[in-house]
Amino acid sequence: MLDVQEENQMQEMVAVILAAGKGTRMKSSLPKVLHVVGGKPMLRHVVDAAREAGASRRIVVVGFGGEQVAASMGAGADYVTQKEQLGTGHALLQTKESLHGFSGTILLLCGDTPLLTVSTLKALCEAHRTSAAAATVLTAVPADPSGYGRILRDAVGGVLGIVEQKDATPEQVKIGEINTGIYCFEAGPLFTALDGLTCNNAQKEYYLTDVPAILAQTHQKVGAVQVKDFQETLGINSRVQLAEAETILRRRKLFELMESGVTVMDPASTFIDAGVSIGQDTILYPFTWIEGATTIGRNCRIGPNTRISDSILGHDVTLHFSYAHECKIDDGVTVGPYAHLRPGTELLSGVKVGNFVEIKNSQVGRGSKVPHLSYIGDTDMGSGVNIGCGSITVNYDGKKKHRTSIGDDAFIGCNSNMVAPVSVGNGAYVAAGSTITKDVPPRALGVGRARQLNIAGWVDNKK
Ligand code: UD1
Ligand code: CA
Repeated sequence: MLDVQEENQMQEMVAVILAAGKGTRMKSSLPKVLHVVGGKPMLRHVVDAAREAGASRRIVVVGFGGEQVAASMGAGADYVTQKEQLGTGHALLQTKESLHGFSGTILLLCGDTPLLTVSTLKALCEAHRTSAAAATVLTAVPADPSGYGRILRDAVGGVLGIVEQKDATPEQVKIGEINTGIYCFEAGPLFTALDGLTCNNAQKEYYLTDVPAILAQTHQKVGAVQVKDFQETLGINSRVQLAEAETILRRRKLFELMESGVTVMDPASTFIDAGVSIGQDTILYPFTWIEGATTIGRNCRIGPNTRISDSILGHDVTLHFSYAHECKIDDGVTVGPYAHLRPGTELLSGVKVGNFVEIKNSQVGRGSKVPHLSYIGDTDMGSGVNIGCGSITVNYDGKKKHRTSIGDDAFIGCNSNMVAPVSVGNGAYVAAGSTITKDVPPRALGVGRARQLNIAGWVDNKK
């Protein structure tokens, strides 16, 4: 036979995330939990942390803007609606149907705490399991406890319950240990206790915080775990707090990168989203933004003044004073200064893209060079190509986009236009200043410009 402790350890865990509150102080038409911090909506941070901490299901209780929340979050969680916001206990009760028959552990979280770490959640769940408690509260001792629910303990430190500040006696208000609003509950005792909740309190709400006292009074074990860093449990209620959370998340990410061997020259001006990965010995120069699902290899030099979004970079890439989004850049490529690499750009190894160049939806072959002042769009370029200064692919006829193909080792003279659809063969040349409207065969010279005529004595004769 399993003892209670072993049974607890084997139990399934489900996370319930409360997010029905309106978030009035954000002064926004967007539901509070959808505001982005550290590169993703706050609710996404919480859902991800719950999943990583071992929650097999994530159920989000939504109210204000619920459909918008569910639609923009998509997979990864289920949603139940709390039609009227009658309190945290009432919010949790809305999951009763979804959790019918579930007898494991419920990890209760709020959707506005994006700073929570997986390790804190794991520590809470671990303590809950090993102590075989019916409920375990995550508590904290902040510098200023005002506004929070206070933890009531007996003479030997056992948890008796939680009292909201608005309902507290002057003696209770002096208690420094607060309720972070994060808990583990055993589903059976929890729902029994929730059914017995009343709203006889200062706010006329069904308080979830009454549950620990109900359990304690019926001699079920209520435990508490104190969080090491109170900051982690902070809820975001305003744009000012949103910016503070951004700073904290950013610092955490930079710390992690530096610990793993990335040089960050100026952490104060470097912005890296949580989902970005960067290889060893890469150097990030000041004023660099790296966003979304971006992967960067080893020994790269990124920045200064560079923004990279949703792109994959190989090793030994240099990218400075430039913007690249939805691109793939292979080993040893050099980009910038002042290049714009737009979606669908693929630069194979050793490519050089220089100043004031824009590339879109094009593949540039190994070792090819686009050094100055060019627009390359919808182009398939081979390897070893040289694009002269100021040359462009004319990809748009006003209605449709057309492709240009430039073969291996082609040499395009300065200030040429390739009017698509058109192709320049392998090893072919295009004379400087040409407008190419017909295919240039391999190894041929394409000339598409008026011949120069010099009129002798023209200046003197026109008098
Ligand atoms: C709650 C706790 C308090 C704790 C504090 C920590 C209660 C009664 N009090 O207080 O002890 O110190 O959190 O931050 O639980 N929500 C709903 N539906 C509702 C009401 C709230 O989904 O009907 C959600 C909110 O969106 C929010 C969370 O529950 O994410 C907490 O609600 P909030 O009103 O902020 O509770 P507090 O008064 O801060
Ligand atoms: Ca709150």
